[in-house]
Amino acid sequence: MKIIILNGPNLNLLGTREKAIYGSRSFEDYFDELKEAFPALELSYFQSNTEGVLIDKLHEVGFGSHKGIVFNAGAYTHTSLAISDAIKAIETPVVEVHISNVFARDAIRHKSMMAPFCQGSISGFGLESYRLALQYFERMKPKQI
Ligand code: DQA
Repeated sequence: MKIIILNGPNLNLLGTREKAIYGSRSFEDYFDELKEAFPALELSYFQSNTEGVLIDKLHEVGFGSHKGIVFNAGAYTHTSLAISDAIKAIETPVVEVHISNVFARDAIRHKSMMAPFCQGSISGFGLESYRLALQYFERMKPKQI
């Protein structure tokens, strides 16, 4: 089954960006490890810093071609009505992930516009947040499939 990991703005800088919060590993490096760990999931990875490009990708993968979306929308999580509308509009289940524990950070990060339309949310486990989301798709039968 096909699962896509989507990363939003500034997550292309993982490994160099605010290392104390996000660690020193690039996502590309971690993604290689995930592909080995989940051979049955046919994983792909897409990153964009642009809201509309992320929405176009949600539309592209949101109607049957993929069984699940693991989505770290970065700061758009807290601000983007358009991304939350897109998640609401598509059929493919989305799991929201965050590397940092957003609830332990500044108040603006406590609110997620997308969480109400996601299968669930995982926050605070470093890069392992992505692995936990993939375990959900590997082990559980998502409600909407
Ligand atoms: C983040 C948390 C967001 O608040 C922040 O804007 C990010 C990364 C995380 O993975 O912890 O860009 O989504």
